[in-house]
Amino acid sequence: MFSRNEHGAATLGGTPLGTLLEAAGCGTPAYLYDLDSVRAAASSLLAGLGEGSSLVAFAAKANSAGPVLRALFAEGCGADVVSGAELALVQRAGLSANKIVFSGVAKQDDEIERAIRAGDTGIYAIQAESVEEIARIGARAAAVGRRARVSLRVNPGIAIDTHAHVATGHDEAKFGIARADLGEAFAAVDARRDIALVGVSSHIGSTQTSTAPYEAAARVLFDIARAREAANGPLEFVDAGGGFGIDYGNGCPVSPADFARALRAIQKEADASHLKLVVEPGRALVGPFGVLVASVIQTKASRSSGRRWLMIDAGMNDLLRPALYQARHRIEPLSDRGAARLAVRVVGPICESSDDFGSYDLPVEPPPERVVIRDSGAYGFTMASNYNGRSLPAEVFVSGGRVVEVFPRRENEAWIASRLGKHA
Ligand code: LLP
Repeated sequence: MFSRNEHGAATLGGTPLGTLLEAAGCGTPAYLYDLDSVRAAASSLLAGLGEGSSLVAFAAKANSAGPVLRALFAEGCGADVVSGAELALVQRAGLSANKIVFSGVAKQDDEIERAIRAGDTGIYAIQAESVEEIARIGARAAAVGRRARVSLRVNPGIAIDTHAHVATGHDEAKFGIARADLGEAFAAVDARRDIALVGVSSHIGSTQTSTAPYEAAARVLFDIARAREAANGPLEFVDAGGGFGIDYGNGCPVSPADFARALRAIQKEADASHLKLVVEPGRALVGPFGVLVASVIQTKASRSSGRRWLMIDAGMNDLLRPALYQARHRIEPLSDRGAARLAVRVVGPICESSDDFGSYDLPVEPPPERVVIRDSGAYGFTMASNYNGRSLPAEVFVSGGRVVEVFPRRENEAWIASRLGKHA
């Protein structure tokens, strides 16, 4: 967990970030993750789910680093994947096929086949997001000679109060099967012997800070599941998706365990305790436990306008969320010596106006040597790119207050060679 010690030094897992970076020897920009806190978050969510069968399918798109995945899998988590590469990654990180669900609106044939071939009976569920996809999954199952385990991802038609880019459960979203089209989807499933319908799923969107919309979606899901069971026999699970919010600085009154408890209550109301409960959190299990550390390159001040900037060596290619969603991540000096602060715009080196992390009160005379960008453990490195010829940032894994693994920066040379092709 991020904290500050009595000397004003920013710490992760109790150790100053500066000490960790020195031990890692990787320079900046660097992501650092506290694996102990990741494990603790998973275990408190599992405790919130309580008795009864459940699967916490970690959304691997939030953080796909091997040490993070292995920590979560060791706690008992499974995974929600959205590509063949993520599927192969979690399998190679040691996860068994029956703990994997596969979401996504445009899965390719070879990805679907990989999911059907996995393990003894395929992955736990391929989540079909359209009627059209059901036929495509069936065709792959027929080709492989196995029955595909499929769930229908329902679009419950519930809008949530979040950034438009991360709302997925409203009527105009490309995600999931509209409730009005479910009859057709069930008919498509029933028409195929190569598909076993095992569950119903939904995911209404990210950064939810209230359980109410999540509960509303769960009611819809359990209604659908119970009606289907009454007509066609038992299902195995209901998957209520992820989207649990975290505290990015403005507070978050609900914990992942609160979402879990709310869900169990709805399940009980629906008299559906026989069904396994699946959740797909990404952010909540990793976001608060990772930070991005950047070095300050220089300041810039306009004598005429009085505007001030702090230029750092991390940009939107390293952490895209501020540019893409106007997300705010608290930015603080690595060591806080109580110097006077001024409002500065913290910006990166990328040639885009949106390469701007926002305005923060920071010491400017002198500026800090390094800053920490907090709550960057989710959708940080996984959304990083080589734009402007930038290397992907380093990643440092911390446990027991010590560095246990380092993924160094991917060097510029590799990028240059990859762009030059055969003339490299
Ligand atoms: N399940 C499905 C089907 C999803 O599409 C997602 C996220 C999750 C689970 C996990 O959601 P979480 O618990 O992490 O909120 N890049 C954005 C978030 C996009 C999320 C896409 N889907 C961000 O940086 O906030």
